Amino acid sequence: MSGEHVSDRWAEWRRQISLDDYRARWERMQAEGQATHGEADFIEGLHPRSVLDAGCGMGRVAIELHRRGIEVEGADLDLDLLDHARGDAPHLVWHHADLATLQANRRYHVVVMPGNVMIFCRVEDRGPIVANLAEHLDDDGLLVAGFSLEGRTDALTLAEYDLYCHAAGLELVERFATWDRDPYTGQDYAVSVHRRQR
Ligand SMILES: C[S@@+](CC[C@H](N)C(=O)[O-])C[C@H]1O[C@@H](n2cnc3c(N)ncnc32)[C@H](O)[C@@H]1O
Repeated sequence: MSGEHVSDRWAEWRRQISLDDYRARWERMQAEGQATHGEADFIEGLHPRSVLDAGCGMGRVAIELHRRGIEVEGADLDLDLLDHARGDAPHLVWHHADLATLQANRRYHVVVMPGNVMIFCRVEDRGPIVANLAEHLDDDGLLVAGFSLEGRTDALTLAEYDLYCHAAGLELVERFATWDRDPYTGQDYAVSVHRRQR
């Protein structure tokens, strides 16, 4: 399999780069001392009791959160990437599942989708994914998603994302332009934090 079962967009990404090259790129950046853990820093700052890394890929963020002592599980539909995560961190729980239908049989304080998961999933799954992940939140839980705001016709807009969240019973708490918490003022990337409507 090379990503077709996830989405056309994901299969297109998989065709462009080998997983070994992708992994090597991150490892090189780390070796060069580049900041590669902005997402983990952001999530750690939320003081989570537990985290689901939703669309975890190779487990880049989840493994770092675990290294920092945070209780975390990962979920992804692409077994090729999940195999890397399982190989690197066999002691963690990795769900091979579609986020639209995942049944983890537990809830999490923070559910996070770093790395453009919302634009690599199938367009028709965007709403169901948000709805299902909302079901996996503790009562005081937070749904966090970072994704690019593109010029494509099938781009996901913030207004659409907020509507999916609203339909799932969530409301916007904070929105940033980067994982470093730069204020969002219309840039082409956003990190959104939603909680249950009060
Ligand atoms: C660009 S990767 C990001 C991986 C990881 N979050 C990171 O930041 O390194 C996008 C991931 O979303 C996953 N994905 C997309 N749609 C999904 C779905 N419906 N269910 C589970 N995973 C999905 C893909 O398999 C892929 O691993």
